[in-house]
Amino acid sequence: MTSPYQAAHERSLNDPEGFWGDAAKEITWTKPATKVLDDSNAPLYRWFTGGELNTCYNAVDRHVEAGRGAQTAVIYDSPITGTKRTITYAELLDEVSRFAGALAAKGVGKGDRVILYMPMIPESVVAMLACARLGAVHSVVFGGFAAHELATRINDAKPKAIIAASCGLEPNRTVAYKPMVDEAIRVAEHKPETVVVYQRPQCQAELQAGRDYDWAALVADAAPAACVPVAATDPLYILYTSGTTGQPKGVVRDNGGHAVALKYTMAALYDVQPGDVFWAASDVGWVVGHSYIVYGPLLHGCTTVVFEGKPVGTPDAGTFWRVIEEHDVKVLFTAPTAFRAIRREDPNGEFLKKYSTKSLTALFLAGERSDPETLKWAEQMLNVPVIDHWWQTETGWAICGNPKGIELFPVKHGSPTKAMPGWNVQVLGEDHQPVAPTQIGALVCKLPLPPGTLPTLWNAEQRYRDAYLTEYPGYYKTGDAGFVDDDGYVYVMTRTDDVINVAGHRLSTGAMEEVLAQHPDVAECAVIGVADDLKGQTPLGFVCLKAGVDRDDADIVKELVKLVRDEIGPVAAFKQAVVVKRLPKTRSGKILRGTMQKMADNQDVKVPPTIDDPDILPEIEDALEAIGLGKKRG
Ligand code: COA
Ligand code: AMP
Repeated sequence: MTSPYQAAHERSLNDPEGFWGDAAKEITWTKPATKVLDDSNAPLYRWFTGGELNTCYNAVDRHVEAGRGAQTAVIYDSPITGTKRTITYAELLDEVSRFAGALAAKGVGKGDRVILYMPMIPESVVAMLACARLGAVHSVVFGGFAAHELATRINDAKPKAIIAASCGLEPNRTVAYKPMVDEAIRVAEHKPETVVVYQRPQCQAELQAGRDYDWAALVADAAPAACVPVAATDPLYILYTSGTTGQPKGVVRDNGGHAVALKYTMAALYDVQPGDVFWAASDVGWVVGHSYIVYGPLLHGCTTVVFEGKPVGTPDAGTFWRVIEEHDVKVLFTAPTAFRAIRREDPNGEFLKKYSTKSLTALFLAGERSDPETLKWAEQMLNVPVIDHWWQTETGWAICGNPKGIELFPVKHGSPTKAMPGWNVQVLGEDHQPVAPTQIGALVCKLPLPPGTLPTLWNAEQRYRDAYLTEYPGYYKTGDAGFVDDDGYVYVMTRTDDVINVAGHRLSTGAMEEVLAQHPDVAECAVIGVADDLKGQTPLGFVCLKAGVDRDDADIVKELVKLVRDEIGPVAAFKQAVVVKRLPKTRSGKILRGTMQKMADNQDVKVPPTIDDPDILPEIEDALEAIGLGKKRG
């Protein structure tokens, strides 16, 4: 007999137009699509061609029209400031339409880009929705990125306006955002016309006359703006993510496919209903924040939690349990690293005893590989299904998961379970042929990808083709490697490129190398990700100095750490570097980063036959041992 999952999965692949055409009925369209799946420009597929809608209307207005106006849409819980606030759907509509009016008065309209540099406050949600309301394209930059990264994104997206808060709050410091916005605009070639600043009580930003405007003052004078219908294929947002170079990739998300897919996942994957409280403990600067703090829950008529704090230290390892109890959270979604942090502080769950988590029906984990130990611990503590699911900024929602709303499969620790409906996941070997079950290979997805996934990269269609579509014709290359077991469970083991994952944050070692190479004493460098008990991975730099440099290594390392923090930002968590005489390379000059990473993690190292000079390896080993890595790891 066909199981419910099998039926859904098979139909989604055999009859994608029927499957997603049905899902699209859950969305309000101002004009229905003329073509559900448009393959006229394959391998660049589009969904819901000819359709028109407004994403903000679907996330806010229509719930008010349907009688949900008095329901809480957003719960802001900020242990870091000691503030809590609830916003109903009716209030959200009012705030969003007035802020959209304020932006419109500054000339922001359909198709214009707007960069947001905002912390975890409800105004970030309001600003994103206000852009969507006007048909403007938002691009949120995570607050942990520094001015240079912001400038790179300004140059690429060419925003008409920037919306920033005066500051973000970290447990150990107030991060003034406005000076970074000023610096980014100063160094960027593109100059946005308008900067809107939300002044937080913790830090007042200085405003530059003629360019900068106070959020509150603008809204006070603004007339509410109506929703602007846009094409289903028009961009809703750009979200930059790390690639292999210092130039981030601008992942484009469209309006129609995105709304349809996210609405679908709320019931099918997360098993929540309108009115339920959904909490994604992430940040609006990441894709998890876009999809499951803002759009998914609101499109579904849920209550979303905007949490400004950390899993530990704000004030303690019981914060997550308090939030669940206080707000009746039905589903929590976070990164495994958050649970590793809680477990480290409170291994026996003493804090958990103080709270009731009975409202919780499931914990979903993503953003990095879920290590089985953490997953088991979470299961024991919470006594609900703990569901690992695998996805990427590019895909916008889960490629693989345990579709609780369709059929809950037994959890296998270490696997994000099965391909979600819409996804045809294959494992290909070096010969581009499918490998046998349990054999590791490149994880690829047969085209077309389902709705809600990236149609292209912003202003970089060729880069999109080169990065994702060219190596395996007919497939999307995920950049991850793994295998499928005999029961069809997918295992995601490692990246195949130079992207590393630090505390659930995706970072490019290539970008860090570009920064290290700027140091006047550095001749050559390499950055790798080494295993870390808390963060999964942390970056480690190797540098070779220019001939004649005669300075203390420790001073140079200190400067390098500061340089990465200043250029990329604290989120890079770049705290370690070693000075070595030479880097191990192949005869063709490729740095053997994989070999160095294995040595750092004290794994078995097979010396590649192509190595140019194996005598370098003992030097690397010594350098690693000097900082407690390699064989010192035990
Ligand atoms: N603005 C400015 N700085 C920020 C920032 C922001 N929005 N977010 C993080 N930073 C800074 C931190 O203050 C820290 O700086 P430091 O070097 O001065 O200590 C640095 O960036 C690294 O931050 P983070 O990765 O958060 O590490 P942490 O040590 O502060 O906390 C965890 C560790 C595990 C508690 C934390 O990473 C966490 O809560 N992770 C949850 C996972 C998550 O949200 N993933 C998102 C994808 S789902
Ligand atoms: P990001 O684009 O920041 O969401 O990062 C995506 C990358 O994180 C993926 O390509 C994987 O390498 C990794 N990742 C995300 N979720 C998982 C998961 N559940 N298991 C293993 N790796 C994951």
